Amino acid sequence: MPMTDEDIAMVRESFAHLHRHRDATTKLFYDRLFEIAPDVRRLFKDDLTAQRHKLMEFLAVAMATLRDPAGLSLLLRKLGRMHSGLGVEERHFDDLRGALFWTLKTSLGTAFTPSLDRAWASLYEIMSREMIAALRAP
Ligand code: HEM
Repeated sequence: MPMTDEDIAMVRESFAHLHRHRDATTKLFYDRLFEIAPDVRRLFKDDLTAQRHKLMEFLAVAMATLRDPAGLSLLLRKLGRMHSGLGVEERHFDDLRGALFWTLKTSLGTAFTPSLDRAWASLYEIMSREMIAALRAP
């Protein structure tokens, strides 16, 4: 489902919180990802410091592009192409979704309302669809 203006505002506000607490957020996220999918740990470098930073900065740019679907699509396709050759498979996007939503619930607590959950689900659907399309046809 496309994101509504209300979805965009909610997702941005919650991301601002995650970004303020980015060290804790990215630690929770990668720890959880590797718990859900231990086999993907080997795809990443031993030291995740740079990766944690790149993920948050990419998401910050994506947040600024949510009102421009064509621009967002370009960004995501480019990121998807960068993932080809890294050993990333389509099924890993489900693992990543699990880690992301667990992190959102854990970090945001009661502020992670059902409508915020749906708004993030719309965004993750767009992100994974575009990235997977680029992975299939890089
Ligand atoms: C919405 C989904 C995803 C986003 C937003 C995302 C974001 C990113 C970003 C921003 C980078 C850094 C690219 C650069 O070097 O500039 C990256 C690298 C990487 N991503 Fe993703 N990614 C996603 C999905 C996945 C999935 C499903 C996997 C599979 C487990 C994955 C595995 C990796 C790996 C292995 C690297 C390279 C890490 C390294 O150099 O140590 N990503 N990702």
